[in-house]
Amino acid sequence: MKIALAYSSKHGLLKEYRRRYPASVEKASAELFAEGDSAATIRAVKDAIASFGHEVHGLEADAGMEMRLKRLAPDLVFNIAEGLFGDCRESYVPMICEKLSLPYTGSGPLALGLCLHKGRCKEVLTANGIPNAAFRIFRAGERLDFSGLEFPCIVKPVAEGSSKGIFDKSVVEDERQARTRIKESFGLYEQPVILETYLPGAEYTVAMIGNGNDLEVLPIVGLDFSQLPSGARKIYSYEAKWVWDTPQAPMRIFQCPAPLSPAERGEMESLVRRTFRVLELRDWSRMDVRLDAHGKPNILEVNPIPGILPDPEENSCFPKAARAAGYAYAQIFQKVISAAKTRFPGAIHEYS
Ligand SMILES: Nc1ncnc2c1ncn2[C@@H]1O[C@H](COP(=O)(O)OP(=O)(O)OP(=O)(O)O)[C@@H](O)[C@H]1O
Ligand SMILES: [Mg+2]
Repeated sequence: MKIALAYSSKHGLLKEYRRRYPASVEKASAELFAEGDSAATIRAVKDAIASFGHEVHGLEADAGMEMRLKRLAPDLVFNIAEGLFGDCRESYVPMICEKLSLPYTGSGPLALGLCLHKGRCKEVLTANGIPNAAFRIFRAGERLDFSGLEFPCIVKPVAEGSSKGIFDKSVVEDERQARTRIKESFGLYEQPVILETYLPGAEYTVAMIGNGNDLEVLPIVGLDFSQLPSGARKIYSYEAKWVWDTPQAPMRIFQCPAPLSPAERGEMESLVRRTFRVLELRDWSRMDVRLDAHGKPNILEVNPIPGILPDPEENSCFPKAARAAGYAYAQIFQKVISAAKTRFPGAIHEYS
């Protein structure tokens, strides 16, 4: 097949940022581009897809992508593009594909927008009886009302990923700390803030590939926070993800498969399957799960375009789960393509 790989490279995001804010480039920090793909990841994904005999064309998901896609007319668009601005930034590629009638991998624009906005996503989960932490959304300029909320809580920008805006100091013990952190977050991330009850139990992340009855839940990854520097909050913060954990000195905080009884594993699997269905996700996803004070698994948040860093020392959880299932890195992409093909039986044709 002729496959277009749609990505948002760190370099491409920097260019986009420069176009929008020509005067403030020096303020652009590494954190701003944390969700962008590195050149090494893009190369590894291209090679992985090509290793199954496909003709792969990499496309930066920028303003010119629609024209380039039209010209290329691929059989399938493999979408890993995260975008940079706004809470619909992950939806652009699927929307363009739908406009051009091109089949694409992964979830559609509505599901991607929903999952990026942590508050809207939790409302849908709650309406469907899926357990998640109590929360409140705060918008800049509004009165900060904490009535009915129990501390400790965690403060997060409402629509980010890769732990952007989530630091040790994001866990707050009282209203005073919450006010300080919320105001700081407004200033830095220019978007509403979500305040969630802090779930104190063990944390897991669960990768899955497929659709419907063929949805395969990969071995569950457990996080061992005792490996964090002493005194650090027991969260997978920006510091834990990008500062303390480096390929040169990787932190051994993951266990895969996580040490769970068959009953615990079964409960978590059924939770993520229901969540996949309720959010109308497609082809693949990775969900963070954490136990509440009663030991009950709650959905923390949902990543319909999961991180897929190729180097095992970079501790990317989707590839880690795939390896534990016995799948090589390249097989992840082949399986996602197969899942997408079952949804577009007439639209994707193989070249012999
Ligand atoms: N309500 C909560 N209770 C306890 N810990 C939390 C809560 N919300 C977030 N955390 C901690 O903060 C981490 C990052 O939060 P979250 O997963 O929402 O961020 P993200 O940037 O969307 O992550 P990803 O990199 O998976 O996209 C979680 O892995 C968890 O350790
Ligand atoms: Mg997360």
